[in-house]
Amino acid sequence: MAILLTGGTGKTSVRIARLLQDAKIPFVLASRRGEAAAPSGMPAVKFDWLDSSTFATPFQHEFPGDEGVSAIYLVAPEAADPASPMIAFVDYAVKEHGVNRFVLMAGSSAEPGGRLLGQVWQHLNDIGVEYCVLRPTWFMENFSEGIHCATVRDEGKIYTACGDGKISFVSASDIAAVAFRPLTDEKPHNTDYRVLGPELLTHDEIAAKLSSHLGREITHVNLIGEQRIQRLMRVGLPKHYAKFITSLEVSAGNGDENKMNDAVERVTGRPPRTFDALAQQCKAVWE
Ligand SMILES: NC(=O)c1ccc[n+]([C@@H]2O[C@H](COP(=O)([O-])OP(=O)(O)OC[C@H]3O[C@@H](n4cnc5c(N)ncnc54)[C@H](OP(=O)(O)O)[C@@H]3O)[C@@H](O)[C@H]2O)c1
Repeated sequence: MAILLTGGTGKTSVRIARLLQDAKIPFVLASRRGEAAAPSGMPAVKFDWLDSSTFATPFQHEFPGDEGVSAIYLVAPEAADPASPMIAFVDYAVKEHGVNRFVLMAGSSAEPGGRLLGQVWQHLNDIGVEYCVLRPTWFMENFSEGIHCATVRDEGKIYTACGDGKISFVSASDIAAVAFRPLTDEKPHNTDYRVLGPELLTHDEIAAKLSSHLGREITHVNLIGEQRIQRLMRVGLPKHYAKFITSLEVSAGNGDENKMNDAVERVTGRPPRTFDALAQQCKAVWE
């Protein structure tokens, strides 16, 4: 058994890699920057979803014990049409390398046959491979490593178009722990998991928690849609992605993320991590 993790320098893949390391299961991380951006000591290769000449690279990696790739974790590129290259790569991996198991990182609203990653999900169903689709809600690490990190640190502000929508923020560590199971269990899961955190919080409540952990005032600034799109574009997001993020935030403001479940505990055997635990552990990144 050997696992190929695309999105190899990203929040969830690096955490899955740590779990694989602990379990002594061979893996390779794959992303455009490859080894240059992977955690030191972790095997990594250069791979670009948008350049099919790189598709062979992860399979040229020499795994201990001469293992072949048994399962692939699929993290989409930030592209207007991520499904086409992902489907092409899945077909390549199945036909040329006999891979028969895929775990797809999708979003809250993904559904088979739907837009964007829904097309990849549908394709996995159509070709009859073993699969699992993860549909996590919003990551807690958006505050510590992602989109909100710099503004919390530099301005004491969180900008969104979410209003007072409640979200069961989930940790990338819990998403990784869920992903680990369908990647490595002998029995395929062949299902999707809506991966949710332990409590429903608004962004005002997140700001209050950060204020209390950091001992300084952090506030949530609610923007209307167009203001939010402009702000995201000013920090470098392409227009299609700025619009996409804003539409997700507006949907969350309308209550679309106001849901709870026990998926993390059901799949991993332990409850999901709280936002307070993450804020306490990550304090230094906002100082
Ligand atoms: N953040 C959230 O709240 C949230 C919620 C639900 C779902 N999601 C989904 O989660 C996924 C992101 O997962 P993540 O947070 O683990 O990753 P991440 O931290 O966003 O990192 C993205 C990864 O993709 C790689 N990448 C980007 N473009 C690429 C390309 N053209 N070819 C190859 N690799 C490429 C990047 O590495 P290089 O730069 O080295 O290529 C990086 O390793 C997205 O599909 C997102 O929609 C996120």
